[in-house]
Amino acid sequence: MNILLLGSGGREHAIAWKMVQSPHLSHLFIAPGNAGTGKIGTNVPLSPNDFPAIREFVLTHSVRMVVVGPEDPLVNGIHDQFLADPLLKGIPVIGPVKQAAMLEGSKEFAKQFMTRHNIPTAAFHTFDSKNLEEGFRFIEKSTPPIVVKADGLAAGKGVVICQSREEARNELIAMIRDAKFGESSRRVVIEEFLRGIEISVFVITDGRSYKILPSAKDYKKIGTGDTGPNTGGMGSVSPVPFAGREFMRKVETRIIKPTLAGLIKENIDYQGFIFFGLINVDGDPYVIEYNCRLGDPETESIIPRLKNDLIELFYAVANRSLKNIAIRFDKRYAATVMLVSEGYPGKYEKGKAITGEDTTRGSILFHSGTSVNPENQETVTNGGRVLAITSLGRTMDIALKKSYENADKIRFQGKYFRNDIGFDLKKGEQH
Ligand code: AMP
Ligand code: GLY
Repeated sequence: MNILLLGSGGREHAIAWKMVQSPHLSHLFIAPGNAGTGKIGTNVPLSPNDFPAIREFVLTHSVRMVVVGPEDPLVNGIHDQFLADPLLKGIPVIGPVKQAAMLEGSKEFAKQFMTRHNIPTAAFHTFDSKNLEEGFRFIEKSTPPIVVKADGLAAGKGVVICQSREEARNELIAMIRDAKFGESSRRVVIEEFLRGIEISVFVITDGRSYKILPSAKDYKKIGTGDTGPNTGGMGSVSPVPFAGREFMRKVETRIIKPTLAGLIKENIDYQGFIFFGLINVDGDPYVIEYNCRLGDPETESIIPRLKNDLIELFYAVANRSLKNIAIRFDKRYAATVMLVSEGYPGKYEKGKAITGEDTTRGSILFHSGTSVNPENQETVTNGGRVLAITSLGRTMDIALKKSYENADKIRFQGKYFRNDIGFDLKKGEQH
């Protein structure tokens, strides 16, 4: 079977790496992919949001399944386009339809959904240009920190934690009146600040049954000790030591089950991954956000632990037979360290030669922002996040140590990485 995977990050390289291990795969195409995916499949220079070009490609290359990595094609309705097209409707798309992807595409929709189904989340209010004054009054009565969120997609930048009322007021004006995030911030959610430690929980569902994938924790800040600006993610570990049986039981009964039951009740068909961004407040899980896809770099820690054939899992999602599948995981810890370009998440340079990949031992390298220089076939940097290094180990420390040893062996000008991934989890590690 020929498969087309959409996306170009470390998440997509990890999904591709896993799919090429399956006997069900004939040919893997990745649009647009990176230097890493180009070594195990065929990169196709198409944007994941160029639906007419994707349609043409799928039809001319006998693609029999489309796997969607990032959120925007889903929120833009790629799955719906396939269902509405007589020539494409038999080709499964792994990733939810637009209405279901709104769990990520609109924070207000997600918050109202959680309210309707009694799913624990921070208290919230929504504002737009019509009730901006009310928003100011709401802020005056709130106690900082105040969480201000653009309603729509904003490439991970739409959430601002304001330390004063004045900052929150200015942020509200910037988002609504000055359209800081364009259409995405025409509406704004202001919510209660939750204090706790974050965790990502992933579920795969066929719209009827679901399987829980391993938990993971990502490290979003650029600096040591979770300081400085947010990035796409500087590393991850899986499993999360504090997410033991008791915590995960609460997550399943209070969050996962009501979410899936809510979707069914509201007739929202969901085939794909649901990413629950949670916060552990004194042992109780709350939903910070839903995403309609896997996380990056969580995927780079989770996928290497998955023992099942990933294409069989995708088939089961498409055929709605997930309940027949027993999901199996490697018990070892996975730790991922992301190598990034100097200056990221601000301005950075691209095109730096990457060397040393063949000198690494005992880790898996997932490319993120990389490309091949057409003149000399060298692998070069092509983004802020460049390479994810994942290792497995009996303990989190063993896994981390391996990733860090190999992080030192990879060279490119301006390489930077956080040297404290997992720092906040070490106390509770279970062996
Ligand atoms: P989001 O894009 O919704 O995941 O938010 C980005 C980040 O902001 C999260 O990963 C949290 O670190 C933080 N955050 C969002 N909402 C809250 C909240 N209600 N309380 C505390 N931190 C939050
Ligand atoms: N690692 C967080 C995300 O993918 O959004």
